[in-house]
Amino acid sequence: MKKLLTPGMLLVFMLPILQLMSQQPQKDVFTIIHQRKSVRQYVDLPVPEEKIDTMLRAAMAAPTARNIQPWQFYVITNRETLNQLADELPYAKMLSQAPLAIVVAGDTQKGNPNEEQFFNWALDCSAATQNLLLAAEALGLGALWTGVYPYKARIAAVSKALDLSPHIIPLNIIPIGYPLMDDQSKDKWDPEKVKWVE
Ligand SMILES: Cc1cc2nc3c(=O)[nH]c(=O)nc-3n(C[C@H](O)[C@H](O)[C@H](O)COP(=O)(O)O)c2cc1C
Repeated sequence: MKKLLTPGMLLVFMLPILQLMSQQPQKDVFTIIHQRKSVRQYVDLPVPEEKIDTMLRAAMAAPTARNIQPWQFYVITNRETLNQLADELPYAKMLSQAPLAIVVAGDTQKGNPNEEQFFNWALDCSAATQNLLLAAEALGLGALWTGVYPYKARIAAVSKALDLSPHIIPLNIIPIGYPLMDDQSKDKWDPEKVKWVE
């Protein structure tokens, strides 16, 4: 008789279920910071809404210049949209596998293009993105920043897929899902990059 389920396949099915069932032990902030890594392969399982809510709340807790909070978050679970974006974005092919992606976008109407601080929207949205990525790590999810801004073609592709108004500029897309593999973080500590001014 044909073998329908290999041990490898069984593991792929069981892993996310076990992850879902197990209560994530709380880790301290330094552990989460150092364990965060870009995860590009996901299990075919949806991310629960409460986890999405937790990530968005963490994102919006980020600091912003003059507390303007010039951001919008687009939560994408629609399979067709995820596939369309995977097709059109050269370095975000993992979207075709991800059950969820969040676009972090800047609302440029919150600033004045003639002012020096106009591009703070990108810095503010970057701070929000890092918070979101850390929250994903803390929740046992895999995620990564895929770049949209400042590439004109990528901005156009995302704006079209999400029907964005011209004043909303997508900074990135964050594919998110339960990790398929046991990805490890990189050790980037380099004391040579630290200059002391005493
Ligand atoms: C601004 C920015 C743009 C990025 N764009 C992409 C991208 O388009 N595709 C991708 O696979 N990874 C992208 N990454 C993820 C980086 O490749 C990744 O962070 C880097 O290799 C370090 O690995 P780590 O995140 O696991 O520490 C981007 C990261 C940043 C900060």
